[in-house]
Amino acid sequence: MSATARKTAPLPDDIRAMKRGTPIVSLTAYTTPMAQMMDAHCDFVLVGDSVGMVLHGLSSTLGVTMDMMVMHGQAVARGLSSAMMVIDMPFGSYEEGPEQAFRNAARLMAETGAGAVKLEGGVAMAGTIAFLVARGIPVMAHVGLTPQSINTLGGYKVQGRGDAGATLKADAKAVAEAGAFAVVLEKVPESLANAITGAIGIPTIGIGASAGCDGQILVVDDMLGLFTAFKAKFVKRYAELGKDAETAIAAYAEDVRARRFPGPEHVFGDGVARTKP
Ligand code: KIV
Repeated sequence: MSATARKTAPLPDDIRAMKRGTPIVSLTAYTTPMAQMMDAHCDFVLVGDSVGMVLHGLSSTLGVTMDMMVMHGQAVARGLSSAMMVIDMPFGSYEEGPEQAFRNAARLMAETGAGAVKLEGGVAMAGTIAFLVARGIPVMAHVGLTPQSINTLGGYKVQGRGDAGATLKADAKAVAEAGAFAVVLEKVPESLANAITGAIGIPTIGIGASAGCDGQILVVDDMLGLFTAFKAKFVKRYAELGKDAETAIAAYAEDVRARRFPGPEHVFGDGVARTKP
């Protein structure tokens, strides 16, 4: 079913059932107004830990906290009614072990109303994913370029080229077997993304992967041109809102300095009725 025809948000199993069907549409969101704008168009909306970089000026996602995710998750939830909300588990909130992951995933779901959590990692996280799923927490996995691991990956490089492709495929298979209902494939060669999509039984959600994935996701501030610190090759800019906003702000500043704003239509009279001469 298309997102526009749907009245209620899909469940993780509905997203899983979209494997090999109409591509799954998703974007990140961090605020209520942005969530409202995408609600009718997306199958799921991700409250990504990219919030740290695009809204809070952090240089990576590593400084994002549980409290930040809860606050942005609550804001996004207020703007959604027909798209499912997935929320990222921030760095340090799940890697210690399944119990820590359960405690924090349960808090994210209980305090934000998210339908699922997303966490980064493949084979190494399979046990944790199985533990969460067995206890009622739907999990979206994330393999390939996993931004929370940039310090061990050596930067934001394409993942899975050459021999590393087999390891990445094993990661995707492990999370699918552990019970994840979908997996994000970030910044991997197109041929590998296609091979993984054909090899596993859950939807692949590509970002810098392939049009052959079962769905796509982008960071909303990237595709709207609001985040301009850098642009990854895989981002398509659908608007230049950042430039438009700066032009508008400069025009406002000029108007204020020239006393052109506020104009007569923006100010209040003293309430005394004027008699016509
Ligand atoms: O945090 C995020 O925005 C993400 C997407 C890039 C998939 O994880």
